[in-house]
Amino acid sequence: MNGQSGANVMSLQFSSRSENEAFARVAVAAFVSQLDPTLDELTDLKTVISEAVTNCIIHGYDNDPSGMVSITAAIEGEDITLTVSDQGQGIEDVELARQPLFTSKPDMERSGMGFTIMENFMDEFEVTTELGAGTTIRMKKRIESKQALYN
Ligand SMILES: Nc1ncnc2c1ncn2[C@@H]1O[C@H](COP(=O)(O)OP(=O)(O)OP(=O)(O)O)[C@@H](O)[C@H]1O
Ligand SMILES: [Mg+2]
Repeated sequence: MNGQSGANVMSLQFSSRSENEAFARVAVAAFVSQLDPTLDELTDLKTVISEAVTNCIIHGYDNDPSGMVSITAAIEGEDITLTVSDQGQGIEDVELARQPLFTSKPDMERSGMGFTIMENFMDEFEVTTELGAGTTIRMKKRIESKQALYN
């Protein structure tokens, strides 16, 4: 048992390459489609996956393609929990990193909005990080059954 009994779990691991971002987005969208999300919900989930994976690649690994990015998705009832992890450099000051518009790479067309987007699009959002060891983002969202709208 892995503490997720009752949940329907999927996990992915892939190289830290920007071309895998689209793969991650589509794979998570395909998995979550069994909850029958609305188009808006699906777009939100794809956006947060993109933001989190991009962060692992450009910040966690500083664009080193030899790193690995991991994603797990767990469906439990109407809830989807997503974790996105890297074993890269970690974040020194999480509170600061979570501020809207904060970016440590202002020179690289980053707007510092990734964490703010994740926090706003999801119901729950947590960052766990250790300098030199890596970062895990855990996010949860309730997918209201579309069926309810038609009944
Ligand atoms: N996986 C990670 N590993 C190390 N540092 C991270 C990671 N994710 C985020 N950070 C740090 O947190 C900061 C804020 O992240 P956020 O996604 O909000 O903005 P950004 O990536 O800089 O810009 P944007 O997402 O708008 O392109 C980053 O600039 C970086 O310093
Ligand atoms: Mg970002």
